[in-house]
Amino acid sequence: MTPELMEQGAKRIEAHRAMAATLGSQTESGGRTAGFSRLLAAGEVDVTHGRILYLEDVHVSFDGFKAINGLSLDIAPGELRCIIGPNGAGKTTMMDIITGKTRPDSGTAFFGSTIDLLRYTEAEIAQLGIGRKFQKPTVFEQLSVFENLELALYTDKGVKSSMFFRLDSAQADRMAEILRTIHLSDSVTRQAGTLSHGQKQWLEIGMLLMQDPKLLLLDEPVAGMTDEETERTAELFLSLKGKHSLMVVEHDMGFIRTISDIVTVLCDGSVLAQGTLDQVQADERVIEVYLGR
Ligand SMILES: Nc1ncnc2c1ncn2[C@@H]1O[C@H](COP(=O)(O)OP(=O)(O)OP(=O)(O)O)[C@@H](O)[C@H]1O
Ligand SMILES: [Mg+2]
Repeated sequence: MTPELMEQGAKRIEAHRAMAATLGSQTESGGRTAGFSRLLAAGEVDVTHGRILYLEDVHVSFDGFKAINGLSLDIAPGELRCIIGPNGAGKTTMMDIITGKTRPDSGTAFFGSTIDLLRYTEAEIAQLGIGRKFQKPTVFEQLSVFENLELALYTDKGVKSSMFFRLDSAQADRMAEILRTIHLSDSVTRQAGTLSHGQKQWLEIGMLLMQDPKLLLLDEPVAGMTDEETERTAELFLSLKGKHSLMVVEHDMGFIRTISDIVTVLCDGSVLAQGTLDQVQADERVIEVYLGR
């Protein structure tokens, strides 16, 4: 991106800030505010024990129904973990617990070896470095790609209080790199509402990346994408692996095959099986409850 474009975008965003502040409080997902909280002051996560995420014996009931039932799972730094399982297995609820949207009835949830996630609010967890992508794209349709990415650096409060904010050169470099990563370098000034479904999903992932999350949770990221968009998303995730830790929930087995190392199968709120995709696909219990015969 050229300095002129950056400057042009920065000017336009001044005009849109008030509108964006209003939009920010109207978005569909309750997690939106938290998901896009500013992460610039996030501290280090202690991964000396080889785990960025650690869940142990987590339980959650909704009106007596055990949605999460003795769930234990951990993820290594830089890992790309795929989660599969039947509808209602508890995959989204697990993400709700990790991000502080739902409080478990009992159990342990740690980010690194020192951060007890159950002690933090949803907004604080986002600030600690856990980014979440909901299934439906939630970009600001009226704003440009640039403006969406820039807004990802603000909290709602920040939008109102940062009228004189400009991207510094490190942030501008970062945005240019992210635009390349999400294949939107040629669409910087394009209105987000005119992007394809897949491009909107990439833009939202770009907004998360602007905050440099250590752990990214992605819930059904390729649902509704074309085959070509799905392939490019697989490339995108593989390029993020190592730099970030990723937890990807998907039903698309072709996609899972392309990106997966270890696959965890959830069923009835706990881990049914875990291993390579070939291993779990050969597991009789997994075939029974999910993959079919
Ligand atoms: N807030 C809630 N109140 C009541 N029940 C809930 C709530 N959240 C989830 N559930 C129930 O918990 C179970 C697990 O739901 P969850 O959305 O986590 O499943 P999932 O594995 O993400 O399924 P899918 O593949 O369909 O997205 C479901 O039976 C769901 O109806
Ligand atoms: Mg779900």
